[in-house]
Amino acid sequence: MKPALLLAAALVAIPITALAQSQAPASLTPEQIVEARKSAMFLSGGDLAAMKFAAEAGADVKQLVPSSRGLARWARALPSLFPEGSNVAPTKARPEVWSDRAGFEARATAYADAARALAEAAQSGDRAVFMERWADVRGTCGACHDAYKND
Ligand code: HEC
Repeated sequence: MKPALLLAAALVAIPITALAQSQAPASLTPEQIVEARKSAMFLSGGDLAAMKFAAEAGADVKQLVPSSRGLARWARALPSLFPEGSNVAPTKARPEVWSDRAGFEARATAYADAARALAEAAQSGDRAVFMERWADVRGTCGACHDAYKND
């Protein structure tokens, strides 16, 4: 190949390589995944507590629709933050999250369903029903933790 052609080939190759790199799939390290799911769990705990305090303090529970819908959305996304290969320190997840995946996902679905029912109760504006649904949601947190989380 003539030098001019070689140069042209090299110039063409540079942007193609750059393009290929920019389209590489986004990926997180296992440690980043553990941090992300722990943060989300922590936030959900704060949200759940804040909803109870607000309802007990006499707030219109209709104001709690966004928070309860947010919990339901997180519950549906929850299993995706426990991918294969993310059982790394400092996780508190038990190995059963991966070895009994169907059971784990069933617990997450129960949580999502309970949170959706909480959002419906909030929408109805009925505080007493809201508090009952709140206790149901809290129960689904504990049911999963008992089986799949170390203290
Ligand atoms: C389907 C199972 C499941 C459900 C449902 C669930 N959790 Fe968790 N949770 C876990 C697991 C597993 C861990 C450990 C995650 C880790 O350390 O990698 C965890 C960790 C936590 C932590 C500790 C976070 C930290 O900083 O170490 C909190 C707080 C928490 N969950 C709150 C909640 C609350 C509140 C709910 C319900 C509103 C809930 N979780 C529902 C499985 C679940």
